[in-house]
Amino acid sequence: MGRVRGKSWMHEHVADVYVKRARAEGLRSRAAYKLAQIASRDRLLQPGMTVVDLGAAPGGWSQIAAGRVAPRGRVIALDLLEMPRLPGVTFIQGDFRDEATIAELERALDGRKVDLVLSDMAPNLSGIASVDQARALELAGLALDFALKHLKPQGNFVVKLFHGEGYEAYVKRLRACFREVAVRKPDASRSRSSEVFLLGRGLKAHAARPAAANC
Ligand SMILES: C[S@@+](CC[C@H](N)C(=O)[O-])C[C@H]1O[C@@H](n2cnc3c(N)ncnc32)[C@H](O)[C@@H]1O
Repeated sequence: MGRVRGKSWMHEHVADVYVKRARAEGLRSRAAYKLAQIASRDRLLQPGMTVVDLGAAPGGWSQIAAGRVAPRGRVIALDLLEMPRLPGVTFIQGDFRDEATIAELERALDGRKVDLVLSDMAPNLSGIASVDQARALELAGLALDFALKHLKPQGNFVVKLFHGEGYEAYVKRLRACFREVAVRKPDASRSRSSEVFLLGRGLKAHAARPAAANC
């Protein structure tokens, strides 16, 4: 008699299918499907949009975003690591924690407001849960600060975060800034990973003001 396989086995199996699919479809990472699934469900990507993709390498999310905002849209992507060129994507290499990198990103935007800020940034893991969570929260916090400054009114934000200390406080901050906040765990995200994707939909008018200390 075969083993009874649980929901988590099924979720993992489905997630691994994405590795093969990414290769077959010429996508740079299986992560591409995470964004593809979130964006389809929530209708986040439309032709003509300006999108910022933080933690972009090797480029799966940028590929999905550039394909959906084409032909007139633009993706500005950033990562610590190098990323080979992609059509429709302007790439900046640098550490998002450095002011000089953010300034370069702002130059690339050239005054344009952004429709969607994405962050799939994840720190290198130290193996010490509290340290890794603090680093992930720092990156997510900086991504949110950037989104508040550069999103159009009603703009949207997607950020990867991990369950753990500080998670609830982060969600509370998102709720203060966006009209709607949702938690997404797409099929393509491995069930054993504690990662989730938080979606902030519809930047509130007061949150877009530079001195919005309450969010
Ligand atoms: C999960 S990967 C992103 C995968 C990507 N979304 C894709 O679809 O191919 C996380 C990325 O975050 C980047 N990252 C981590 N810390 C960063 C930082 N401080 N500044 C910029 N990028 C960072 C890493 O270099 C890594 O490439």
